[in-house]
Amino acid sequence: MYIATYTASANIAVVKYWGKRNEELILPYNNSLSFTMDDNLQTITTVMFSEKFSQDELWLNGKKMDLQKGKKSHVLPVDLLRKKADIDLPVRIVSKNCFPTGAGFASSASGVAALVCATSKALNLTLSGKELSMLARQGSGSASRSVYGGFVEWLKGDLEDGTDSFAQQIAPHDHWPELRNVIAVVETEEKKVSSRHGMKTTTLTSALYEKRLQYLEGVIPKMKEAVLQKDFATFAELTMRESNSMHASMLDTWPPIMYLSDGSREVIYMVEDLNAELGKTVAGYTFDAGPNAHIYTTEEYESVIKERLEKIAHVKNIEVCKVGQGPQQISDEA
Ligand code: PMV
Repeated sequence: MYIATYTASANIAVVKYWGKRNEELILPYNNSLSFTMDDNLQTITTVMFSEKFSQDELWLNGKKMDLQKGKKSHVLPVDLLRKKADIDLPVRIVSKNCFPTGAGFASSASGVAALVCATSKALNLTLSGKELSMLARQGSGSASRSVYGGFVEWLKGDLEDGTDSFAQQIAPHDHWPELRNVIAVVETEEKKVSSRHGMKTTTLTSALYEKRLQYLEGVIPKMKEAVLQKDFATFAELTMRESNSMHASMLDTWPPIMYLSDGSREVIYMVEDLNAELGKTVAGYTFDAGPNAHIYTTEEYESVIKERLEKIAHVKNIEVCKVGQGPQQISDEA
């Protein structure tokens, strides 16, 4: 029996990936930047290979999944690693998320990153961060960033074979210890439009998309500089404008994609009012492919943001994350 268990955490992008230039290899149109979160947004995954299993199996949150459907692409890295290790045994994957699956919480990122790390360990492969990132990318694009902790950039690359499209760490998890991500859950249901489908229609139909790509070229160096200098006001403004740019191109897609809800908009107004009231930018919202808000702030303003969120009727749950360390191996000793 070959076995290994890993945890990995979701990452919340501040320059987001939305659109592939190569669907099969998952090669994006733009570089993206994110912070990997701590264990409040974590997946734990055990991977076992054994001749005792009759077929491949995936268990997600206690439920057996149909590997011929839906999650098939997420487990593609297992096949790539099995070939690399030259081991032809059936696999059993047991994975658990400690946050709502499919609610715009990038559960695919933590899930695929944990899967790639556990699989490569179980098969006794010694792979570099770059190799793990490229494998994770082929399971789910955003997962390429979750193989590292801290502040991470996924390079889009230029080659058509994908060998220069991988993530790298820009700053470690303890670079900005005061940074917080306050999550306002306004919806716990699975999203209606998958990111895979949504991205495709945006790139094919949105007239704004081209403009967004031009805009991001200028934003990326500014965002990196703001994070490295810990310039919160610049960082937060760039974060909010980038999220708005992505959601504008989604709305401009035909048929339109609308992930934001009334609850999301209430959170946006709350953040704007708070920043205006204090006369400085202390909070910046960002939304992925879902209505739940991620508010970046610093330790100092965490409690006032929580208090304001509690007054919003649409907000069902509030969680706070710090920046996390990236994947960790868990002992499989009984
Ligand atoms: O999780 P994926 O690889 O299907 O992509 C989702 C992308 C966003 O979460 C919307 C943005 C990002 O860069 O994380």
